[in-house]
Amino acid sequence: MKIAVYSAKPYEKPFLDAANTPPRDADGRPTHDLIYLDAPLSAATVDLARGCPAVSIFVGDDASAPVLRALHAGGTRLLALRSAGFNHVDVEEADRLGITVLRVPAYSPHAVAEHAVGLMLTLNRKFHRAFNRVREQNFSLDGLMGFDLHGKTAGVIGTGKIGEVVCKILTGFGCRVLASDPVKNAACVSMGVEYVALEGLYARSDIITLHCPLTPATKHLVSAAALAAMKPGVMLINTSRGAVVDTRALIAALKKGHRGGVGSVGLDVYEEEGDLFFKDLSAEVIQDDVFVRLLTFPNVLITAHQGFFTREACAAIATTTINNASDFERDMVNEANRVGAKLIASVPVNH
Ligand code: NAI
Repeated sequence: MKIAVYSAKPYEKPFLDAANTPPRDADGRPTHDLIYLDAPLSAATVDLARGCPAVSIFVGDDASAPVLRALHAGGTRLLALRSAGFNHVDVEEADRLGITVLRVPAYSPHAVAEHAVGLMLTLNRKFHRAFNRVREQNFSLDGLMGFDLHGKTAGVIGTGKIGEVVCKILTGFGCRVLASDPVKNAACVSMGVEYVALEGLYARSDIITLHCPLTPATKHLVSAAALAAMKPGVMLINTSRGAVVDTRALIAALKKGHRGGVGSVGLDVYEEEGDLFFKDLSAEVIQDDVFVRLLTFPNVLITAHQGFFTREACAAIATTTINNASDFERDMVNEANRVGAKLIASVPVNH
């Protein structure tokens, strides 16, 4: 099957090619005809997929209703997401058009969980600053003091696959772990995680880490009011989706500094990351003033959506994507990977 692979980066092609090799068809051709496209999917690029029964996209691509309608008109019937998150897809419109949407619901929760904890450790012990200092032969420790993670209280919002691994790692560090999730995870309960209301989590946590999906209920969950309810000096980590945090409110809370504001922030995602992340903009003038303001804080550490970026996760994403396409072609879709009305209805809206 011809698959237009949008936003295809050089680092993922070998994984997709490897996943696409066995089994070959009778003529020795790879399973699918992968057409790699550097461009993201958008209204401007949708025509590149004309005649492709399948299209594969990543998190920065635009699968809004008009784009889906154009894909459908060009003959596309499968949208194969190379991600777990599907907030960039108009699922109702896809359902209406009869476009099957399949995702990679789990590839490596460890990749994202370890990245979240990496952000915590780096922010706390300031490895990034120490690295630069030592290279400049500045061996002073001024400004590098951190705190023991052991004995601190960590609040985990969303204890699904990734949140569970975060709970396990933080429990290993000797943290007391609080959690908020409309659905309790038995594995977390058995490791001693205490489920509390959000207000309690905000009031008691020294570190708060977000692992819930972006839904209407979680959009700007971390609002000005939520930030004001957090402990002064709290460390906030977001590796879920940018819009779970109200960035302008976050900047206001950071500006309070030692006067009761947020202590430090680690972000792997950003509300408007679509215009920035996954691109080399080092020679460009960034127009997003909110993002540029975030970059100026010494206590903010940003990575460009790389939580998923391990060899194991990339291999798993590629394998599931190719399998999703093969299953679709054989009319044997793996229902666990389907993104549709049923999945949307199962996403909890209360918190
Ligand atoms: P999951 O579906 O296993 O877990 C999500 C959990 O969030 C569920 O337990 C759900 O009940 C809970 N939840 C839903 N609404 C909530 C609310 N209002 N308050 C608290 N909890 C709520 O998903 P998984 O695999 O753990 O991924 C979590 C999120 O991480 C994804 O939705 C995605 O946005 C993000 N992600 C980020 C990546 C990165 O590279 N930075 C890579 C993969 C996922």
